[in-house]
Amino acid sequence: MSVLVTGVAGFIGYHLASRLIDENIEVIGVDNMNGYYSVQLKKDRVKQLQKKRGSFTFYELDISDKNHVDAVFHAHSIDVIYQLAAQAGVRFSIERPDVYIQSNLVGFYNILEASRNHGVKHLIFASSSSVYGDNAKIPYLVSDQTDHPVSLYAATKKANEVLAYSYAHLYEIPTTGLRFFTVYGPWGRPDMAYYKFTEKIMKGEVIDVYNGGDMYRDFTYVDDIVEALYRLKDVVPKPHHKSEKDLMGPDYTIAPYRLYNIGNNRPVNLMEFIRTLERALGKEAKKNFKPMQQGDVYRTWADCSNLYHTIGFEPSTPIQTGIEKFVEWYQRYYNPKTYRSGPEKLPVYYT
Ligand SMILES: NC(=O)c1ccc[n+]([C@@H]2O[C@H](COP(=O)([O-])OP(=O)(O)OC[C@H]3O[C@@H](n4cnc5c(N)ncnc54)[C@H](O)[C@@H]3O)[C@@H](O)[C@H]2O)c1
Repeated sequence: MSVLVTGVAGFIGYHLASRLIDENIEVIGVDNMNGYYSVQLKKDRVKQLQKKRGSFTFYELDISDKNHVDAVFHAHSIDVIYQLAAQAGVRFSIERPDVYIQSNLVGFYNILEASRNHGVKHLIFASSSSVYGDNAKIPYLVSDQTDHPVSLYAATKKANEVLAYSYAHLYEIPTTGLRFFTVYGPWGRPDMAYYKFTEKIMKGEVIDVYNGGDMYRDFTYVDDIVEALYRLKDVVPKPHHKSEKDLMGPDYTIAPYRLYNIGNNRPVNLMEFIRTLERALGKEAKKNFKPMQQGDVYRTWADCSNLYHTIGFEPSTPIQTGIEKFVEWYQRYYNPKTYRSGPEKLPVYYT
């Protein structure tokens, strides 16, 4: 089996590719190595993948360039696509909407076209809990309404879901979408709160705590995401018969298309989260309480029952365990004695 992972130098793409290579699956990885956050970190992730025994081919390319995407499909016979490449981040989408349109819409469309033209057997793509917007009903069910995104990022993810549906319907491309809920772990994303908090607590700097700490997130450990992605590749959606039309919903459709939530199903209060991080770091945070930010939502909470029903698995890693693993990696990665991370400036506490 040959698998394409887009966004392979990214946080989740790296972990997924690592698992696939370990399972002896041929992995073709693409990434445009953009500078939204540390390019060195992306290079280091790719370097880790290249060091592994197994089949891994990496292309530095932008999925919004149709010719480059086509060239990859002509060079390799691809069975499964994991479409993870995207401009992530809710807040940045308010400052730089153009990047989101280019990567998340044009790039996503190119992947759909490639799936159609090259007979891909299964397209699996990343959506986001942000599609639920300010949904007050909890936990979030896949069938809940998602028509009121509160950021452009969320709007592009919702657009991905409906574009993918239309391709699944028109061209019978088996497609699975997954709405990820706040993913964290080693080799994580420096733009996310848990990473920034760690950096600042270590340096003794003040952390900004939004909405006075009164927020909840369904933090999901990255290994749990990878396990679900790995199992889902073998659960290829089939079309349903038209007579079953009355059963239709976002997670049950006539087209060979399925959509799932993937979260920990245990929302954690922001203050409790900070205390967990403080314990793992052995250091107290200096906190600056601020009002809610534009584009943020109050609470996220995933109902994963249909995912569990499909693959017999749902995330369950406790936040303490996941945070300890993240902190252990962070302290190793930024310590020149245990990991040489190249020319990037190291945080001051290690120099
Ligand atoms: N991490 C989370 O909490 C979370 C939550 C919800 C959804 N998601 C989604 O999961 C996917 C992976 O997220 P992540 O956390 O690993 O983010 P990430 O930013 O670490 O990874 C995305 C990767 O895609 C690459 N990329 C971006 N635009 C590209 C383009 N046009 N062409 C080629 N490569 C491009 C980036 O360089 C990056 O390495 C994304 O689609 C994201 O929207 C993540």
